[in-house]
Parts: sequence; C-alpha cells; structure tokens
Amino acid sequence: AKGAAMVTAVAYRLIEQSRQIQQTLAEFRLSKAQLLEVKKRMRVEIERGLKKDTHKEATVKMLPTFVRSTPDGTENGDFLALDLGGTNFRVLLVKIRSGKRRSVEMHNKIYAIPIEVMQGTGEELFDHIVYCISDFLDYMGMKSARLPLGFTFSFPCHQTSLDAGILVTWTKGFKATDCEGEDVVELLREAIKRKEEFELDVVAIVNDTVGTMMTCAYEEPTCEVGLIAGTGSNACYMEEMKNIEIVEGNEGRMCVNMEWGAFGDNGCLDDIRTKYDQAVDENSLNEGKQRYEKMCSGMYLGEIVRQILIDLTKRGFLFRGQISETLKTRGIFETKFLSQIESDRLALLQVRAILQQLGLDSTCDDSIIVKEVCGTVSRRAAQICGAGMAAVVDKIRENRGLDHLDITVGVDGTLYKLHPHFSPIFQQTVKELAPKCDVNFLLSEDGSGKGAALITAVGCRQRELDAQ
Ligand code: GLC
Repeated sequence: AKGAAMVTAVAYRLIEQSRQIQQTLAEFRLSKAQLLEVKKRMRVEIERGLKKDTHKEATVKMLPTFVRSTPDGTENGDFLALDLGGTNFRVLLVKIRSGKRRSVEMHNKIYAIPIEVMQGTGEELFDHIVYCISDFLDYMGMKSARLPLGFTFSFPCHQTSLDAGILVTWTKGFKATDCEGEDVVELLREAIKRKEEFELDVVAIVNDTVGTMMTCAYEEPTCEVGLIAGTGSNACYMEEMKNIEIVEGNEGRMCVNMEWGAFGDNGCLDDIRTKYDQAVDENSLNEGKQRYEKMCSGMYLGEIVRQILIDLTKRGFLFRGQISETLKTRGIFETKFLSQIESDRLALLQVRAILQQLGLDSTCDDSIIVKEVCGTVSRRAAQICGAGMAAVVDKIRENRGLDHLDITVGVDGTLYKLHPHFSPIFQQTVKELAPKCDVNFLLSEDGSGKGAALITAVGCRQRELDAQ
C-alpha cells in the first residue's frame, strides 16, 4: 500500500509539473484574435511613422530610402559592396552586366568584427572596416580602381539622399561610441582618407531589407517588399510618395525602410509581452528598444528560451533543479542550435547530444521540455512577424485601391533560411491574416551584396543624368 501511495504521489507531481509548464507556455500561444490585434496595431504605427505630425515621436520610423524604383535590367558596371550588421561582415566585388545575357558575378570575403570593435569607439570600428576593404582590394588586385561603393548598413538611418544616412540608434549587438547622430557615409569617407591607401566613391547607403527587395526584384518585377528575419527583424516596401509626408514630392513611389523592430517601444505590445520578454530586454544592450525585434529575431529567440529554462529549472521542473553556469551564459542558444533542436528528423537522443554540446546535462524528460519550449517561442516569433507582414501587404493593397493584391516579398535572414518551422508558420499566418492578398515569397541570394550593387548602379546612372 505504501508503494502504491508513493507511485500515486509521483504521478500527481508529474501531472502538476506538466500543468505548470503548460501554463507558462500558454502565454506564448497567441489566438487569431490576438494576432489580428497585432496586425491592426502595426498599421496604426505605420501611419504614425508616415505622417509629418507624428513622425518625430513614432516608434516605427518608416524611413525614406531614396530608392525610387526597382531594377530594370539595364544596370551595368563593377561595384564594391560592404555588408555590415548581419551575421557576418563582408566585403564584395559585384560585376553586373546588362543586355540580353545579363548577369551578376560576385566575389566576397568574410571578416570577423571582434566584439571590442563592435562596442568600442566609432573611429576604431570604421578603421577596422577600411582595413578589411584594403585587405580585400589587395586580394583582388584592385587597389587603384576607385570603384563606386554601396554600403549595406543594417541599422536605422535617417536619409536625406541616397548617399547620406544619419544613424538614429544602434541595434542588435552594436554599440560603438560617437556614431549615433552622425552621417555614417561621412564616417566611412573619413576613415578611407585616414588610411591614405586607396580611393572609393561611396554612392549609396542601403538597408539590408532594401538590398533584399532589389535583389529579388531584379529577377521578379512584382517584388516590392523586402523582409529580413535573421539576427534582427525588419521590412521595407514601395510606398506612395504622397503618403511619405516627410519627403517632398507626390509622384510615384519610394521604398521605405520601416524599422519595424522598434514596434512596441511605446508600450503597445505590453499585453502580449511576457516576463521572459522583459527579462531579455533588461539584459540587452538597448533596454526598452526594439521590443518587437526582441520577440521575433534570431539574436533574441534563444535568449527567451534561456530565460524560460532558467525559470523552469528554478521551479524544479528541469535539469534536476540545478542552474548550471552554461544556462547563465548569454547567447548560448544561437539560431543554428534552435534550428537543430527543432528539426523533426532529430531523435530526442540527438537533442540531448546538442544540449550536451552546449554543456547542459539533460535527462530524456528534460529534452522533451526543452524542445517544446523552443517550438513555442519560435512559433510565436513566426506568427507575430507574419502579423506585421499582413499589415504591410494589406496597406499596399489599399494604397492601390484593389480588392485583391498579388505581390512578391523578397526574404533573407538566418532565422528564415535555417529554422525548420519559422517560414511555413510565418507564411501561413500572412495568408490567414491578409486573405485578400496572394503573397509569393522569394528567397534572396545574397541580397545585401547584390542589392547594394544594384542600387549603386542606379545611383551612378542618375548622377550621370543629373550632370547632363
Ligand atoms: C535591425 C536594424 C534594421 C535591420 C534589421 C535586420 O532591426 O535596425 O535596420 O534591417 O535589424 O538586419
């Protein structure tokens, strides 16, 4: 009888434990009504960013990019491109050929940016960038060419022209001093001068979303939206000039860099943010900022997971109640690990092996719970990201006075490309929340490099026309 009582007690404990875990995760499971609400609020913030009266205090900045059209195939020439702000820093040489057999050929080299440089002084950061360009030009044997350069700089910039961008604020892992409020194109030009080794013609500063849209539009002209679901999260699209009140002129369209990562910074998502989201925010380099991004991008998903696991461990439901040093380490769950853990082809034993690799000793039960936590967090990410995109495509549809819109979205980013469930859930959500739009998603091949070169090509051509 004593044995039976013990078994019952254990069973009760397990049932209670699983009830509590489910209760914790329930906050992450959003209903369709909640997602529609996210879509609606995104739309409100879009309008605030676009309108002159509200632009200043708006959280979703809707920044003009001075990209007025997508490529038409006549782009031509050799260009240098820089890609800063994603998973890797790269320097690229892009050769674009127009005509019947148009083609794009690329050579690139990846460079590390040490964390001390990302978070040191602006001068050090830009000197490092120029050092990498110098190395690349040596490597390609092109030091004397004075090439036109497109700078993919994936942070919010206030642009007043194609080649001027004042950094609004750093996001993601960057925090170099003396850059915010400065024109980053000037910072780059000054660093090139300091080096006194080569000359370059900086033609365009480009957000990665815009580069992605342009790259996809080169292949598919219906592409008028760009999305990044990677280290950060952001989108851009072709907006009607007449709606972009802070830019003069009413004719045609211009691409706006939404900077939707900052959605929620005015508190409008507080009802769906959990205490784990708040903990991630508090632990970040930019507390209070980029709240939406912190719920749906690769740099933070693992951190949300880690916060939940710490809490479940403290409550005795995981890892035998022992919080290891590993679990206390920021950034351990990179996108690639989450993607592996959530892979359907993986047996639980393999999940345990991954956790082991990370330095976490797990039982079989632990690995089941960890996998469920990861799945719940990434599902919510894909859904709220989809709700944002639904707001965008519906806005474009309304802009054009259509009952039905066919459109292509160019997409890039490690989360979108590596994670096994993010993209299908994201796409499904867009479909459900924007039923009047048929959205085609196109993966971009190296959007940041190719797109920057395409925009630079258009910029050079425009300059020649202006000079005539
Ligand atoms: C961050 C940046 C934004 C960029 C996005 C994706 O949100 O602020 O400019 O597009 O990350 O890299």
